[in-house]
Amino acid sequence: MKQEVLLNINGSPYEIMVAPNDTLADVVRRKLGMTGTKLGCEQGDCGTCTVLIDDKSQLSCLTLAIACEGKDIRTIEGLESNGSLDPVQQAILEKNGVQCGFCTPGVIMSAKGLLNDNPTPTREEIKVGLSGNLCRCTGYEKIIEAVEAVVDGEYSDQAKTQIGAE
Ligand code: FES
Ligand code: FES
Repeated sequence: MKQEVLLNINGSPYEIMVAPNDTLADVVRRKLGMTGTKLGCEQGDCGTCTVLIDDKSQLSCLTLAIACEGKDIRTIEGLESNGSLDPVQQAILEKNGVQCGFCTPGVIMSAKGLLNDNPTPTREEIKVGLSGNLCRCTGYEKIIEAVEAVVDGEYSDQAKTQIGAE
């Protein structure tokens, strides 16, 4: 039986009817139209559905929406600030950490979760932090370099790409 839950997503409240087995991925993508969160394997193997829940990276395909009431949920759509990309988004973009882009939202959310826990990870810690995110295109090197650039402060005070700008 469906029940109403109040979910806080990207800083906004959403009152939604959910079934007990609706996943957070289903809710953000199909009910709210936030399709930046991707669905690949839907069984915890690929990481493309990663979001932040209370600042920790979590797999939204394995998370029941009903269990997220009262928590702070952030999807890739919620990373921009005043129309500008987040530093991790900017670094992935500029360091060529994107090819087809399917894995990219999950990679970025995992990197954000890693940096929330540890703002200065080593290269090995970055590899471990992103080890749950599969990418068929980039070979991972550019992604790791992008996160290293953020850790090194290369993107902290740089003008960021304005979303929607030419
Ligand atoms: S879709 Fe969630 S881990 Fe693959
Ligand atoms: S950029 Fe294509 S799967 Fe990662």
